Amino acid sequence: MSKLVDIPLSQWDASASMAQQTAALQALEDGQLLRLPSLAFPLQQEECPLLTGAAGSAKNISWDPSRGVRGHGDAYDAALLAALMQRYARHTHSLLVSLLPRYQPHLQQGKGSFRPVEIAGRVTSWRKDDTRLHVDSFPASPTQGRRILRVFTNIHPEHAPRVWKLGAPFEQVAQRFLPRATRPRPGVASLLQWLHVTKSRRTPYDHYMLQLHDAMKADLAYQAEVEQHSYSFAPGQTWVVFSDVVSHAALRGQHALEQTWLLPVSAMADPAKSPLAILERLLQRPLA
Ligand SMILES: [Fe+2]
Repeated sequence: MSKLVDIPLSQWDASASMAQQTAALQALEDGQLLRLPSLAFPLQQEECPLLTGAAGSAKNISWDPSRGVRGHGDAYDAALLAALMQRYARHTHSLLVSLLPRYQPHLQQGKGSFRPVEIAGRVTSWRKDDTRLHVDSFPASPTQGRRILRVFTNIHPEHAPRVWKLGAPFEQVAQRFLPRATRPRPGVASLLQWLHVTKSRRTPYDHYMLQLHDAMKADLAYQAEVEQHSYSFAPGQTWVVFSDVVSHAALRGQHALEQTWLLPVSAMADPAKSPLAILERLLQRPLA
């Protein structure tokens, strides 16, 4: 099965055909990635200097609708960044509403990010090294079973593509790494929440997803031997993915925008395809 499905929409608020809606829903829930090869996100003139500023060492500059911009240092104008990300979030919402009407009443807005640093050659810890295949899981922001639906756009001002690798299906990942996962220890989730290490309670689901994320990245033999394929996203292209289920790695590229949306599993056409349902089936116990 191809990992990638192209949807030729070129406007964020364009209405998707019924066939496009059906294809998009099926592809995402099956663990494929949607690419919108003609969906660019044009910057306004005053925003263009954001692509030439000194990025510093931050991997991402994150934007939380309720808390504003984080990690921008002195190199960027926070108000300008916040306005840009707010606009991007609105555009991604329009796109998802048009493409995935089934999800519309259930979408919960997560953080957004501006990713101004070249990925290739970036020095980081193994756990934060996104050039290694992984599934997404947020240590500080438990999703408690909700899906992580992310929209990305390459906004590089010239020709640099953003290059990703995609790896094995989630079921295979879970079967390989669950046997070596430790069980959640009683009291730890409450302690983490009390210490404000997590923003809400880390459920057993979040615990196992973090374990999968870390175990995948830490296993260099797995990284080398698992079947994987590269995909390129040119400037002016957008892609959408359930990044909690799709094994992915970002190899190179600079200047991308990303917006996260959270979705309750019950909103899916087929909740059995959620990582929550797959992990609960494999472990034979409720996790959220
Ligand atoms: Fe990721």
